[in-house]
Amino acid sequence: MIPIAEPFLGQEELNNVIEAVRSGWVSSKGRFIPEFEGGFAAYCGVNHGVATSNGTVALHLALTALGIGPGDEVIVPALTFIATANAVTYTGAKPVFVDSHPDYWCVDPTLIEPAITPRTKAIIPVHLYGHPCDMDPIMSVARRHRLYVVEDAAEAHGAEYRGKRVGSFGDISCFSFYGNKIITTGEGGMCVTSNDELAKTMRILRDHGMNPERRYWHDVVGFNYRMTNLQAALGVAQLARLDALVARKREIAGWYAEALKPLADEGLLTLHPEMPWAKCVFWLYSVLLDGRLRNSAGRLLQELEAHAIEARPVFHPIPTMPPYSSAVAVGKVSSTISSTGVSLPSAPSLTPAQVSVVVRAVRSLSEERPT
Ligand SMILES: Cc1ncc(COP(=O)(O)O)c(C=O)c1O
Repeated sequence: MIPIAEPFLGQEELNNVIEAVRSGWVSSKGRFIPEFEGGFAAYCGVNHGVATSNGTVALHLALTALGIGPGDEVIVPALTFIATANAVTYTGAKPVFVDSHPDYWCVDPTLIEPAITPRTKAIIPVHLYGHPCDMDPIMSVARRHRLYVVEDAAEAHGAEYRGKRVGSFGDISCFSFYGNKIITTGEGGMCVTSNDELAKTMRILRDHGMNPERRYWHDVVGFNYRMTNLQAALGVAQLARLDALVARKREIAGWYAEALKPLADEGLLTLHPEMPWAKCVFWLYSVLLDGRLRNSAGRLLQELEAHAIEARPVFHPIPTMPPYSSAVAVGKVSSTISSTGVSLPSAPSLTPAQVSVVVRAVRSLSEERPT
């Protein structure tokens, strides 16, 4: 089986986990946690990292620290993983969905302003499949309307917008370290910010709302959203590999782009985009099927499966799914990307020979006689 994604773990990860086990610090105290938080925040170019048990709760923690709750609205892209919208729902606020930009699949910044109401409190731009959002217009609309920005960078560790790393634009930015992400801690997440007060609030909320000066005194209802030292032990070793893993993702994207270009030139598919202002990290290299292949995403997935190649459809637009189906305006662009998109194997272990097998399977579909 050629896997769609796979963690890249080595001796350093093993050494760190053994050290954590031997030290006895297996819960949420231990040296690896501050080391991972500080190292990852510095990597993003911000001052604080608050590690969490996964990326979904990182989003919930960020929104809660910003005071978002019932009666508020938060703008989220229609096309993202459901956790982005669910985190808003957990706070009691309402996610308001905005369509994608056709050229790079993330939220279309020109559609944000029309979605703003007096209840809007924040925008969550999602750097989808590793491609950064167009942050300048998003930040300027947020400034004009005094809205918070929470970047959802779960899929985009190391991606850059106009030479600046994602995670450094929002009031708070959230990452996931799930096993299929660019770096992993098994399960895990982190909120990063340069705002001292927000970092302090998130640390308190992450730890049951316990007053840092008075043990077992709780001023607010908090959560147990802490990361363990075992997870952070993995994280420290993974962080040292992050640049190499990003370079590998980009190399794989280059192989796909070169091999699939003839099909793209024939108008049969759209390659995974990278805008001139972006450094995309191609979390999952994805293509859209066009022309006579337009309705073939399902068949392509079957064809790949028959060749023991793991692939997956692009996310469904969130407003098409039961929990959010009463939301207005699904969005034409996100619907098209979703119905024509396929994510191809993108594990760092992928070889050029395996990429050729994938490309042959895609090509064979284009050579089938139309039925
Ligand atoms: C865009 C996006 N946001 C949030 C998450 C949630 O992260 P986690 O799975 O670590 O809870 C994920 C991925 O899993 C994601 O892809």
